[in-house]
Amino acid sequence: MAIEIIGTGKAVPAKKVSNNDLASRIDTNDEWIRSHTGIGNRHFADEDTACSDLALEAAKNALAMAAGFSGADSAERDRAAAESAKSIDMIVIGTATADYFGCPSTACIVQDKLGASRAAAMDITAGCTGFIYGMETAAGILSINTERKRALVIGSEVLSKVIDWSDRGTCVLLGDGAGAVVIEKTGAPSEGPDKRGLLRTILAADGSGRENLIFRRGGSRNPFKTGETVEKSVHLEMKGQEVYNFAVRAVTETVEALMKAEGITVNDLARIIPHQANARIVQAAGKRLGIPIEKFFLNIEEYANTSAASIPIALDEMNRGEQLKKGDLILTIGFGGGLTYGGNLIVW
Ligand code: UT7
Repeated sequence: MAIEIIGTGKAVPAKKVSNNDLASRIDTNDEWIRSHTGIGNRHFADEDTACSDLALEAAKNALAMAAGFSGADSAERDRAAAESAKSIDMIVIGTATADYFGCPSTACIVQDKLGASRAAAMDITAGCTGFIYGMETAAGILSINTERKRALVIGSEVLSKVIDWSDRGTCVLLGDGAGAVVIEKTGAPSEGPDKRGLLRTILAADGSGRENLIFRRGGSRNPFKTGETVEKSVHLEMKGQEVYNFAVRAVTETVEALMKAEGITVNDLARIIPHQANARIVQAAGKRLGIPIEKFFLNIEEYANTSAASIPIALDEMNRGEQLKKGDLILTIGFGGGLTYGGNLIVW
């Protein structure tokens, strides 16, 4: 039995915001952002768009692909996706910017709008590692029950709505988007020379760093009080330098641990797909590991940091751009709020 990815999709808001656009609003400039992060643009959702809206679009694209649809007609895509949605047993969404606080889950909203009537649905709170955690969770849920065959794993974020524009070190990093994959339990082998699908996952956490990436207000620790006037809306706080150091360590350790556990070297890997937080993090980790930067897939220039969405967006771009061949061994790495980190080793 193998857990294989049979469809990918993404959804990115049409509104593109360049570094120069930001420079007209806050004290920053294109040169600083590019040289410190590799970011050139980000996409921002409009006022009416929430996490589930982007997640739904990405899911439809992945479901339609899983049903064999490859055209451009959106009505036909919707028909293929609706049919495909009926086969889904589980929907897992990694997000830090859910539609609602705590309940209902964003996954339940997507489940309803897709008509995925037999699917269970839940969100995962693992920051930017949400997709990695989501893959392992969904794969485990499929594996322990013979009647469950297919799951949707989505990363979706509308980070533009939780930006603190007075924090220039953080606000320039973030973007909106969603990515999705359909995974299926197939009869292919998961061991031996013809092995396929999700081979191995590492999941890790270091809660002692929980203050380094945090939505401080609004939860049961610091609830809003009736009549209280708040200076700032709910926003993401980040200690950039601490997260940077953690991230370089997390990428290095995850790559080393997955390669060691699988008994492979970097030459066996077709590509490494890191969470797109900062190109400098990837360069520093690549240098430590002795891995050339070309081995890593990077699209941060266009989308900035879309947290849990960045890896499935990257997978969809690589897949549709024919950058992945059947049988390619790929390694994904996530790191972020919690602090959490981890990676999936997958035969495409
Ligand atoms: O998804 C996971 C979560 N996030 C991350 O992975 C992010 C991890 N951290 C980072 O990527 C980096 O720490 C940052 C990109 C956030 C910051 O880079 P840095 O090289 O650590 O910059 P810094 O915070 O040490 O700031 C250096 C200088 C400061 O000026 P002074 O005090 O040296 O005069 C900042 O005020 O850069 C200044 N600065 C800016 N200048 C122009 C900070 N932000 C900006 C900005 N534009 N946007």
